[in-house]
Amino acid sequence: MNESDIPGPQLRAPELPQYDPSDPAESAVIAGLTRSWPRRAAVKKPEVDLDALFEADRADYPEQMLPFAEHPRYLALDEQRQARLRAWAWIAYNKSVVDIEQHVVNPGFALITEDAFGIGPSDTVVTGVLQAMVDEQYHTLMHQQANVLTRRRRDWALPESVLPPCPTVREHRAAVARAETPRDAALVQLAFTTVAETSISAYLALLTTDPELQPVNRATVAVHRRDELCHASLAGGLLTAVLTELDDTDRVRLLDALGTAVAAFTGSDTSTWAAIIAHENIPGGDELVADTIAVTEGRPVVQDCSAIRRLCAGLGLGEELDARWPWPRSA
Ligand SMILES: [Fe+2]
Ligand SMILES: [Fe+2]
Repeated sequence: MNESDIPGPQLRAPELPQYDPSDPAESAVIAGLTRSWPRRAAVKKPEVDLDALFEADRADYPEQMLPFAEHPRYLALDEQRQARLRAWAWIAYNKSVVDIEQHVVNPGFALITEDAFGIGPSDTVVTGVLQAMVDEQYHTLMHQQANVLTRRRRDWALPESVLPPCPTVREHRAAVARAETPRDAALVQLAFTTVAETSISAYLALLTTDPELQPVNRATVAVHRRDELCHASLAGGLLTAVLTELDDTDRVRLLDALGTAVAAFTGSDTSTWAAIIAHENIPGGDELVADTIAVTEGRPVVQDCSAIRRLCAGLGLGEELDARWPWPRSA
């Protein structure tokens, strides 16, 4: 085949089968999302000129979201050093999004396409999950490109190699390693993917509402969030389909894993700040880190996990879930 014989840049997907209401894995919601993906997904839209959106005098991250925004050691820094810490917060935010997409979300979605839980997903469900996995790969590229742009336009190195693995990914690995069988491990992975997908839009929303924030950063997060609002419905539908198929033992294991995942996603991330502050040689950095840990410990960070509670309550499993959630029950 000559290169000139290759069709244009986008191939149109074949028609999907009609929605099958007798298939418990294929809710009308999932079928609708799968069909609308070619029109609504960020990856299918024309690219935005991100450089044109960059404004040098805007903050790269909302100052009020820094856990030490009021600390005297931070307030004592000159504007340049404060700006570097805000840029670091943005770099770290992007890295944590990328880590979760790559190491938590997509491996969990793959379990559905491989039918690890024996729910027999239809072509429409598999297509919808594969579309979401493409979205996640595109989001990874978007957030990596956001970091590239920040480094280039600020002319600061800000290397991601300074940062430790994202704590949620560490917790995910530990929970998978504790699983006694491959099936238990798959349930843990599904739980973490479900919590990620039903709570990430709240995490992203934190950076879409500040009108003073760097416009290119706000746009990146807003574009990602539009996809994630759909993924939340997809993940909810998949969880429902799997919970409906599981026996009592596996259902309890999945509920336990959801509790573990909620705790992992709502925990604070002080190891990242400790690494950044040490790298930046901030005067009084040890005190700043210690006080930040003291302030943030035990305080839910940002993710809203209430969707999981609502989903399980809708299946009559709300009380069972409450009994198993370590913390925070009201999140
Ligand atoms: Fe995503
Ligand atoms: Fe997602």
